[in-house]
Amino acid sequence: MLSLRGVHTHIGAYHILHGVDLEVPAGQLTMLLGRNGAGKTTTLRTIMGLWKASQGQVLLSNQQIAGPGCTALGTPEIAQQDVAYVPESMGIFSDLSVAENLLLAARRARSLKDLDTQRLEWLFGLFPALKKFWLYPAGKLSGGQKQMLAIARAMIEPRRLLLIDEPSKGLAPAMVRNMVEALKELKSTQTTILLVEQNFVVAKALGDRAAVMDDGRVVHAGAMADLAADEGLQQRLLGLSLGAHQ
Ligand SMILES: Nc1ncnc2c1ncn2[C@@H]1O[C@H](COP(=O)(O)OP(=O)(O)OP(=O)(O)O)[C@@H](O)[C@H]1O
Ligand SMILES: [Mg+2]
Repeated sequence: MLSLRGVHTHIGAYHILHGVDLEVPAGQLTMLLGRNGAGKTTTLRTIMGLWKASQGQVLLSNQQIAGPGCTALGTPEIAQQDVAYVPESMGIFSDLSVAENLLLAARRARSLKDLDTQRLEWLFGLFPALKKFWLYPAGKLSGGQKQMLAIARAMIEPRRLLLIDEPSKGLAPAMVRNMVEALKELKSTQTTILLVEQNFVVAKALGDRAAVMDDGRVVHAGAMADLAADEGLQQRLLGLSLGAHQ
């Protein structure tokens, strides 16, 4: 579904990605792991065209969407290819209601009446807080509820590919479990997902594949189950101690 081949990204004078190779197979959930500063967020932003790849190629269903010589596609065009991005900062509109935030994410709806009611009920089932605070300004939600809203925005319409940056960040354990359940439900719809995660328990629960980044490169790729079973590899790649498994 998505392939990165030898992708380099510079941010200003800094050379951040040093030849990222990454395969995201269709219908699976690929975890993007790695220490702080490894280049995970930069990789997602490069896929979305928010940073320009200075070398290499990004291919979506074999069509090039980024890389030098690929001038046709900017971020809006990439989003129109049915790619949704949930950034670390969540990108929700604080002054707008929960309902309006969802409406803006539904490209085919002009008013709340146009929203697919079945899909909305499905989302309310996954994230009850959205129903409860439907007409509240999104800025008044708690951090965890905002994260739920950000993910629900990416789920309001079926997408080809979802890029999600650290959805569990800062959440209380009960909220993390809730998030994992919602993402499992999303997985069951065969949506292709690339998920950045620091929480290894979440990564183990959700990942089909795992790619580990270090210093602007993918240094390991394989089945999540293999990484989950190999504590030596986790220690070497992620610096995880046994405590990460609780
Ligand atoms: N706007 C920027 N200007 C300069 N350097 C940047 C910028 N954004 C990121 N970097 C640098 O690029 C490197 C990779 O950052 P990135 O945000 O991709 O890491 P990450 O793997 O997402 O880390 P984290 O787990 O902390 O979110 C870091 O060294 C960071 O300092
Ligand atoms: Mg990041």
